[in-house]
Amino acid sequence: MNFELKIFNSSSATHEKCDVSLILVTNAFKAGKDALSVLIAKALKSGDLAAKAGQLLDIYRPVGFLTPRVVLVHIAEGAAADVQKAVSAAYAVIKSAKPSHIKISFLLQPTPQMLRVALTTLVDASYVYTSTKSDRQGRSVTRVVVAVPDEKALQACFDRSVAAVNGIELAKEWGNRPANHATPTHLAGVAKALSKFARIKVDVLGPKEVSKLGMGAFEAVAKGSDEPLRFIVLHYTGAEKTKAPVVLVGKGITFDSGGISIKPSAEMDEMKFDMCGAASVLGVFRALAELQPNINVVGLIASCENLPSGRSVKPGDVVTSMSGQTIEVLNTDAEGRLVLCDALTYAERFKPAVVLDIATLTGACVIALGAVRSGFFTSDEPLAAALLSAGETSQDLCWPMPLDDAYAQGLKTSFADVANVAGRAGGSITAAKFLQRFTSKYRWAHFDIAGTAWKSGSAKGATGRPVGLLLDYLLDTKG
Ligand code: BES
Ligand code: MN
Ligand code: ZN
Repeated sequence: MNFELKIFNSSSATHEKCDVSLILVTNAFKAGKDALSVLIAKALKSGDLAAKAGQLLDIYRPVGFLTPRVVLVHIAEGAAADVQKAVSAAYAVIKSAKPSHIKISFLLQPTPQMLRVALTTLVDASYVYTSTKSDRQGRSVTRVVVAVPDEKALQACFDRSVAAVNGIELAKEWGNRPANHATPTHLAGVAKALSKFARIKVDVLGPKEVSKLGMGAFEAVAKGSDEPLRFIVLHYTGAEKTKAPVVLVGKGITFDSGGISIKPSAEMDEMKFDMCGAASVLGVFRALAELQPNINVVGLIASCENLPSGRSVKPGDVVTSMSGQTIEVLNTDAEGRLVLCDALTYAERFKPAVVLDIATLTGACVIALGAVRSGFFTSDEPLAAALLSAGETSQDLCWPMPLDDAYAQGLKTSFADVANVAGRAGGSITAAKFLQRFTSKYRWAHFDIAGTAWKSGSAKGATGRPVGLLLDYLLDTKG
């Protein structure tokens, strides 16, 4: 897809060579003498375009306009959620016409957030999955032009938005691919392919190297499957080598059957999405590759399958993590924390400024926060504020969750230093408390994206979250 930011004037909005011209109208609209604003003013006055976010008027071949289809869409006060609603409503009506060239015009200068949301919503809505279909007819949209009154003021925001959508799309695509088409080896291949971009280097470790590092928790999860594990290390070096990196750690379970503690069959297919944390790390690197910012970022992905077999780890088995802590595996379905704990220990070697892990970790987080906000856990107040704010600017929302020590009670066991599960209560928090034991050497936050990484039901599919959030955190947080 091709993106371009242009200056808006009312004649270009109606004379651009495109299939559809989307005109975003706010409450602050003031009519001028030009044909477009006369049209809008009439539509508003007659009530044919109601002043409510998402209301639209679809106009075919308006007299005097070059553009064959003009869609007026109201965005009320222009709040991010309203822009999102408006753009997805507009795409829903034009979708069947399979538009190729779309122009989105803001009559009044939008905020950076409005521009970002308009673009991410349009790209998201027009995505078509084809990788494992015989009909390879993908998205119809090939070119998106965005017009704003002062384009120079928004160029940087536009560039970031384009990088974000490319990263989000990579995360979505790999999240969607079925487990037999997205193995740990495939994910390592995606990472390797990213190393063709400037400033990116990638190392891939296999079972032997992981064993040598003493990652007994990660190994325990992987050993039930014939598919070999991969530990993927990505480096983006945009600043002095001496500058401490932010380390992103992704859970990359390419299929989570639960292992010996096997899951019920219903909806088990959705456990192909259990690598969406890993996919979000890859997505962020895709965006960094494009933007080339002056920062250092390390990506760590622990990837394997969680399957039952004669070689699987069993409930009650005790394994030794890379940190030296022993873990009693009371439930083999709590595998995410097992692969992550070793990756978190590995992260120490980078003397990180901050470590963020991203994981589809618990069903309990879906119950707590649903599909709207990702949960995050940190006891670092400035970090919490920065993450919450990155969620707002990117409209990839998140919400802080508690980490009181009292929540760790249930992880106690007589047979190891720690158990991998506590009771059912507060399941997302006890999981975070488990991870916290491996993060004493640096500033850390954990994202539970179990509710936000993919949509279930008829619109089943990965969302590419939280690539947008992570990107804004990396680019907007100084020091
Ligand atoms: N990948 C799942 C978490 C999950 C479940 C995400 C459903 C989205 C939807 C994770 O590995 C898991 O199985 N967690 C268990 C933990 C439990 C055994 C303590 C869970 O949430 O049930
Ligand atoms: Mn599991
Ligand atoms: Zn899992």
